[in-house]
Amino acid sequence: MSIDLTPLGFRRIPFTRELAVSERFALPHQAEVADALAETVHRRMSAALIAPAGTGKTVVLRTLVAALPEARYQVRYVKVTGLSKRDLCKEIADACGLPPTGIYPALVRKLQEAFAHCVETDGLRPVLLLDEAHDLRPESLAMLRLLTNFEMDSRLVVSVVLAGQPPLRNLLGRTDQVAMAQRLAHFATLRLLSRDETRAYVEHRCAIAGAQANPFDDDAYEALFEISRGNLRAIDRLALKALERIAKAGAGAVSTGDVIEARKELAL
Ligand SMILES: Nc1ncnc2c1ncn2[C@@H]1O[C@H](COP(=O)(O)OP(=O)(O)O)[C@@H](O)[C@H]1O
Ligand SMILES: [Mg+2]
Repeated sequence: MSIDLTPLGFRRIPFTRELAVSERFALPHQAEVADALAETVHRRMSAALIAPAGTGKTVVLRTLVAALPEARYQVRYVKVTGLSKRDLCKEIADACGLPPTGIYPALVRKLQEAFAHCVETDGLRPVLLLDEAHDLRPESLAMLRLLTNFEMDSRLVVSVVLAGQPPLRNLLGRTDQVAMAQRLAHFATLRLLSRDETRAYVEHRCAIAGAQANPFDDDAYEALFEISRGNLRAIDRLALKALERIAKAGAGAVSTGDVIEARKELAL
């Protein structure tokens, strides 16, 4: 159950995961990564975005989607889980609007045909975004390579963007994944926020959720940065928990003590 934050001026719950692209906080390093990924896709190549949990990968993928014109690209987003190659193939088919039925080799072929059709008939370039790609099984990663292989690689048809946590790098480094790794023309990563960015980010997220006054005192920002180390998800969780604490206590502003207590409650 969430605690009512309206006494603090919030019109909705701040620091939630769902956030319209238009309400993002402008972070130049995220924009640069999204631009570079878009550039890779424009060149019909594939890419990987590898960074720790909570650093903004999914947000960057959403930014990428917004940057790819619908008139030129057919973008499909799939959140990977540890599915078998067959089941992942079905999930991709489903995301592409194909009936996810049939035996595995036939399904791969159907998807390939659909991608080729997309290019030849609709004039659209298929782009496959695979989020949480560190959860890919090796056999599923190999399936992706198969899926994107056209005429022995002489044709670039589908762009794949893999986004995942650092174990994705190990997966791509396996000797049996060389073919897929070589297909990736661009590797990107995301850094943690600086002290100043952390503060500006928190202020932004409070403001878009309706808070009129800034509900954190200066030392509380310092504590938020020290504990979160600039990891966006850690900032979100700490800030929300600290706000809930003061709402419950009827206090006016978050202090360092509130952030420290929030950390304990979250076991960060
Ligand atoms: N530019 C941004 N503006 C606002 N919120 C952001 C921004 N980037 C990330 N976030 C928030 O930070 C959290 C972590 O981002 P997310 O993309 O989910 O990270 P990852 O996919 O790397 O785990 C999410 O709640 C997200 O809404
Ligand atoms: Mg994510």
